[in-house]
Amino acid sequence: MKVIICSTQDEASEWAASLLMPLFRTPKSIRLGLATGATMIPVYRALVRQLGAMQGPMIRHVKTFNLDEYWPIDPDHPGSFATFMRQHVFSQITPYLDQVHFLRGNARNPDEECQHYEALLSAQPLDCQLLGLGVNGHIGFNEPGTSFTSRTRKVHLSDTTIQRNSRQFPGIVPQEALTVGIANIMEAQHIILVAWGLEKRAALTRAVCGPVGEDYSGPQKLDNFGGRQVLHWTYDGETK
Ligand code: F6R
Repeated sequence: MKVIICSTQDEASEWAASLLMPLFRTPKSIRLGLATGATMIPVYRALVRQLGAMQGPMIRHVKTFNLDEYWPIDPDHPGSFATFMRQHVFSQITPYLDQVHFLRGNARNPDEECQHYEALLSAQPLDCQLLGLGVNGHIGFNEPGTSFTSRTRKVHLSDTTIQRNSRQFPGIVPQEALTVGIANIMEAQHIILVAWGLEKRAALTRAVCGPVGEDYSGPQKLDNFGGRQVLHWTYDGETK
């Protein structure tokens, strides 16, 4: 694991985008897992800007797979992740991507939808999975306590997540979602997790310093990264 500590959100976003750029530059077919959420807005802004310097046809080999979606929700609903992706990424680069994949929040049969997505994901591992981090430590919509062997499925959201999401849903806040599992995420060849903010410090500390476990129970008071040393890495792996 490499930990890159940045001074600002913009700097972290530029880093994350620059770590993805080699995937867009390679000629081989690439499968990229994508996340949504406030953290991803500046990351995608940086990515679209960095991609802007490339010729469109050069990224036709990239397929994308979004991590999760509320259920039930119409893809055109302003709070859906499909809308988020259209607004922040796909409106600008979709024509140049090979294919874009989503868990469909309006699927009548959510279990069948998850099986279908699982088959797509299992066909071949993702080259890279981009992740944010929930305040309570969730990744995708895998809430604390989720098994490491979990795969794509419908889940109930935790009270913390529902409360936080109420910002985007002035009406009825979704209580359920479709998400890929921890096992799916861990099968990716590379994972880039981006997180910032004091409210995520405890979850990030646990993620970086351990102990590894399924039992994270939410923020606790910690003054630093659990008192352990964290190396500052540059992209080429050299310590600073
Ligand atoms: C969304 C997702 C979530 C978010 C997490 C952080 O696709 O996978 O796990 O990454 O909730 O969200 P923000 O960035 O809004 O704090």
